Amino acid sequence: MNYQVKSYEEYKEAYAISVADPEQFWGKVADEFSWHRKWDKVLEWNFTTPDVKWFVNGKLNITENCLDRHLQAQGNKPAIIWEPNGTEEAHRVITYAELHKYVCRFAAVLRKNGVQKGDRVCIYMGMIPELAVAMLACARIGAIHSVIFGGFSAQSISDRLHDAGAEFVITCDGAFRGGKDIPLKNTIDDALINSPAVKKVIVFLRTHTAVSVIKGRDVWWHDEMAAVDEETTMPAEEMDAEDPLFILYTSGSTGKPKGVVHATAGYMIYATYTFVNVFQLQASDVHFCTADIGWITGHTYIVYGVLCAGGTSLMYEGIPTFPDAGRLWDIVDKHKATILYTAPTAIRSLMAHGLAPLSGKDLSSLRVLGTVGEPINEEAWHWYDVHIGKSRCPIVDTWWQTETGGVLMSNIAGVTPSKPGYATLPMPGIQPVLVDDQGNTINGNDVSGNLCISFPWPSIIRTTFGDHERCRVNYFATYPGMYFTGDGCYRDVDGMYRITGRVDDVLNVSGHRIGTAEVENAINMHTGVLESAVVGYPHDLKGQGIYAYVIMESMPDDATHTKADILQTVTRVIGAIARPDKIQFVPGLPKTRSGKIMRRILRKIAEGETENLGDTSTLLDPGVVDVIKNERV
Ligand code: WTA
Repeated sequence: MNYQVKSYEEYKEAYAISVADPEQFWGKVADEFSWHRKWDKVLEWNFTTPDVKWFVNGKLNITENCLDRHLQAQGNKPAIIWEPNGTEEAHRVITYAELHKYVCRFAAVLRKNGVQKGDRVCIYMGMIPELAVAMLACARIGAIHSVIFGGFSAQSISDRLHDAGAEFVITCDGAFRGGKDIPLKNTIDDALINSPAVKKVIVFLRTHTAVSVIKGRDVWWHDEMAAVDEETTMPAEEMDAEDPLFILYTSGSTGKPKGVVHATAGYMIYATYTFVNVFQLQASDVHFCTADIGWITGHTYIVYGVLCAGGTSLMYEGIPTFPDAGRLWDIVDKHKATILYTAPTAIRSLMAHGLAPLSGKDLSSLRVLGTVGEPINEEAWHWYDVHIGKSRCPIVDTWWQTETGGVLMSNIAGVTPSKPGYATLPMPGIQPVLVDDQGNTINGNDVSGNLCISFPWPSIIRTTFGDHERCRVNYFATYPGMYFTGDGCYRDVDGMYRITGRVDDVLNVSGHRIGTAEVENAINMHTGVLESAVVGYPHDLKGQGIYAYVIMESMPDDATHTKADILQTVTRVIGAIARPDKIQFVPGLPKTRSGKIMRRILRKIAEGETENLGDTSTLLDPGVVDVIKNERV
């Protein structure tokens, strides 16, 4: 891989070229992939409509890059090592040759069930290799997958299915997660009550949970596989560089989650480029990313980026604390993981168990550590460094988003300097800009502002599915001519970047993105609720907790009971990840005369700040603030 930068000097050189001549830079990287037909032009773009096209008229299939092209040189190399939830069950090793065969065969199953190029396929499964197989099989035949995290409720799934116009679902009877057996198929059945458009549901048998099987609609994965020739070599569908590869729903500051669309070639190239560089991939690496594939981190750094680079992806079905807080270290030890990529939340929760779970665990295979998903506090950074990395493994703090497809800012392991709490420097190709609220560029160092990116990179969001205007308004209209990230950022005296958190109404709870509007809508669906306002507050373990102010038609007699019921409603409407940590019943909300909720005040109160609430004179009813303050929970 000629594009791996191996020194600080090489990084600076690559960065300079990527800015001076982006087309030459990305064209050279793209040359190292396999294409049916190369592009006519590397890039065409405008950030107004917006319209971004990379590798114009190039033709390819991503699965040939992830699988076929590795067969000759390393067909017997493990592509996926899978560690099950339960410690008694055997792990699985799937080589590139086996994965290729498996994907081809399942792609044939999809074809047989009527899936065509461009169709949307919703995948709702646990963390098992078949999830990766399902995604790759879709990509093989040009179907667009939309993976939905296993923690989302039937209602959330139904919303996403409708939005994506999905006609096919791939799921499991259930999923093992820690001590729980999650009934995925039952949830899908509930989600499908109002989705007559769904023609087929393919069910993988994992937990042997009792499920209902609907004639004509539901089929078993193993039956379908048995009906397809074992040696089927499913030819890869020829895709245009800009054909959508997948849709992944994510929360924004307003309305329902939006379907972020990624395009085939640009996503593939940027995912692979960043994986190879940020972690300084070596041929013998075993890459252990603890994210769920239901989020972008899993898409890019468990599946596509890793396989495309010919790496070995270590995938774990369960949770870090099952059966005990030493499980991640057992997995690292057992499979000799060389890279560990996880979230600050996981680090903090393991830190809270002390050092005992580490005793007797051999972590000497580790070479690089990574973090993602939320700002990492210094204490967690140092614990990770000292106790996991034994002060000899670089920690890469990777900042990026569902919309960016791959890491935009991070130090490069052992190559560029690291600084606790800092994503440090942009990747080659990324041009960050800080702007003030009026959109003026903030130059110089030791400054803070809203983080924008002024130039496209290959895996930038192309559209929000079915609603391009929403994409424009959300990302390209706030600061015309730039992609707005929604994050605040500080550039220090040395020009290093530190992400300070969201500046919009998006929360980051345990590294999960949740929109305050979504939670409010869910709460408002509860009977007796008149109105609600949701804000985030600092939480020791989760990073941010969810604080909900709720106005009821009449004060409940049994507040504890009503709060529990509201939590139940949120779980039903969105999923357990969106349950508020605190609920306060209030007689009113601080609103301006034009009816706008002053969230700034609510945030301060949730944070425990009751003195300096700023100017409240513009409020319709300033008195309500005192009541809220005094009854804080
Ligand atoms: C936050 C996850 C600080 C940020 C890949 C971003 C981070 C949001 C970091 C995207 C980091 C992600 N340091 N904050 N290293 N990485 N974030 O779409 O607020 O689930 O906008 O993508 O997570 O979350 P998403």
